[in-house]
Amino acid sequence: MKKLQQINLVISIFVLSFCSFGCQAKDYVYDPVIVRDCDVVWLDELDVSKVASGYGSTQRNLSIDRNPMTIAGVVYDRGIGTHATGEFNICLDGESSRFKATVGIDDEVGEHKASVEFMVYGDGVELWRSGVMKPKMPAKQVDVDVSGVKHLKLVVDEGENNSYDHADWADASIEIAGKVPVAINTSRPRPYILTPKPGLQPRITGPKVFGVRPGNPFLFTVTATGQRPMKFLAINLPRGLSLDFATGRITGTIEKEGTYKVKLAAENSLSKNSRAFTIKAGDTIALTPPMGWNSWNCWGCAVDDEKVRATAKAIVDSGLINHGWSYVNIDDCWMVKLNSDDPIVGGKTRDENGMILTNEKFPDMQALTGYIHGLGLKVGLYTSPGPFTCQSYEGAYEHEALDAQKFAEWGFDYLKYDWCGYGTVSKGKTLEELKKPYQVMRRELDHVKRDIVYSLCQYGMGDIWEWGEEVGGNCWRTTGDITDSWSSMSKIGFSQDKCSPYAKPGYWNDPDMLVVGQVGWGPNLHPSNLTPDEQYTHISLWCLLDSPLLIGCPVEQMDEFTLNLLTNDEVLEVNQDSLGIQAVPVFKDATRQVWAKKMEDGSTAVGLFNLDGFVKQKVTVKFKNLGINGDYVVRDLWRQRDIGVFSESFTAVVPSHGVVLVKISEKK
Ligand code: GLA
Repeated sequence: MKKLQQINLVISIFVLSFCSFGCQAKDYVYDPVIVRDCDVVWLDELDVSKVASGYGSTQRNLSIDRNPMTIAGVVYDRGIGTHATGEFNICLDGESSRFKATVGIDDEVGEHKASVEFMVYGDGVELWRSGVMKPKMPAKQVDVDVSGVKHLKLVVDEGENNSYDHADWADASIEIAGKVPVAINTSRPRPYILTPKPGLQPRITGPKVFGVRPGNPFLFTVTATGQRPMKFLAINLPRGLSLDFATGRITGTIEKEGTYKVKLAAENSLSKNSRAFTIKAGDTIALTPPMGWNSWNCWGCAVDDEKVRATAKAIVDSGLINHGWSYVNIDDCWMVKLNSDDPIVGGKTRDENGMILTNEKFPDMQALTGYIHGLGLKVGLYTSPGPFTCQSYEGAYEHEALDAQKFAEWGFDYLKYDWCGYGTVSKGKTLEELKKPYQVMRRELDHVKRDIVYSLCQYGMGDIWEWGEEVGGNCWRTTGDITDSWSSMSKIGFSQDKCSPYAKPGYWNDPDMLVVGQVGWGPNLHPSNLTPDEQYTHISLWCLLDSPLLIGCPVEQMDEFTLNLLTNDEVLEVNQDSLGIQAVPVFKDATRQVWAKKMEDGSTAVGLFNLDGFVKQKVTVKFKNLGINGDYVVRDLWRQRDIGVFSESFTAVVPSHGVVLVKISEKK
């Protein structure tokens, strides 16, 4: 290939000098100007800083990690090295004739499990698609007619997941018939706000049902929107509980098992609002999906005490708490790293009694949980059943009892238990082996006098949704890790129908945490790569799916759009509905889907989704597919207003990658 390129170079020098008039040299401002045929522009000659890459920065004539571009052993001198999810937009203005390239995964990924798909679009129409490509697969040739195309879009999508997706567009060129193509910025559509601001009058939000184990500390904050000061009331609270009128916090313990019907009220100088609330003292907690925050999608291992406190405080200051957001969860990296030279503990991961130690970024866990509880919020923690976590920090293996005790003593209310290092201990992946570590920790959690939501994380292995409840989980991850791309979010979200029958109060499928706001999985954050419409889709779908809702961005840095996205009480009610029925698809075609879920008040929540990446489309829900017929009121939940009365069907025009989320209720 190198040799061929050299010959090409000689020919090109000749051609260039020979026909430079026809090349309109004045139009070529590329840097550096590399020898080329006069009627061909190489991709690497364009402004590659305009290429969006999912990781690192796009390279000219090198792979993303700056190695010679190599696909299946063949080295290429020209092209661009990118990482999925990537996008390159080029203005051809109808004056080019062909686009050619040789594409594949760069050999530098070694044995890692990368997978990507290359796509070429002309004015929104798919011209070519590679299919999923894996490392070491021979390169594929693209050679497409782009005559008349104004806007050429080159996309590298993650194939099956988004790690090590080093994608090369080698020997990539555009044959031009006239004007020179120009790289254009991948435009980020402007965020637009749909949710009306909450009114000044009090309105109680959050779940209508709450589960607690008899004898364990009860911690629930009644939440409401509306002008402060506000006074909270609770009528018929079971014996052992009391309410703080000023904060809405209910604490105490219930000794006797039973279902207690309570009436909650919130009152300010303008009016009073009340609603029924059921407390179930029994053996099931998390009767609605947990809502809160987790440190992973934003800070990754850069999480520390200060960042966690900042988010907790911001959940209160921003008013998120008034919409039912209640957990503040610390993910991986709070323990001591294995083999680290930690300055404080000198590399020791546990004390002489085997008790787990924190690293220097978490100097006082109990003070931290105290601070967060003091704000009326709850706190969560992460560990692994293995000897080490995914990031090689101390895990719980063979210390499960001590760790469960310690977590309860520190005051944690939520535990994410992540398989990772357990892979080195497990003897295989039989169902029995997959269940074992989760059963062990369940037993230990049962011994502590605290309600700890138990979140199982093992990426869906062994169809965990079929046995997550049996091993005592309150929620279980159904997929690998999410990233902030349409491809990742939509693939995960729209594939959850298989798990749907297993969701119910106390037991939830978890398609992973939210990727809205600033994300980054480390110290450097970036705005989510999801467009505003994709973010509306993400939140609508996760609500329909009864998924745990865990915000993955620093709340103290949240912009108005993101805050608005997360504070629509009518949308959140879909997620928090007491029936706990997970949505299922009632219609699917190549680019449209309709998902529906029955609600406690007899209505149906329906998401009309447009999966097409370019055009808005009409999407219809037929009432017979919802098992209803007659006149129904359709309410737009994002805009919080009734659209009208419909019979037989409802059709909405849905933006590209967007959603219209409605509630369909019988006309009174
Ligand atoms: C796994 C999990 C993530 C996160 C990281 C932490 O990848 O799936 O959600 O907890 O581990 O290392």
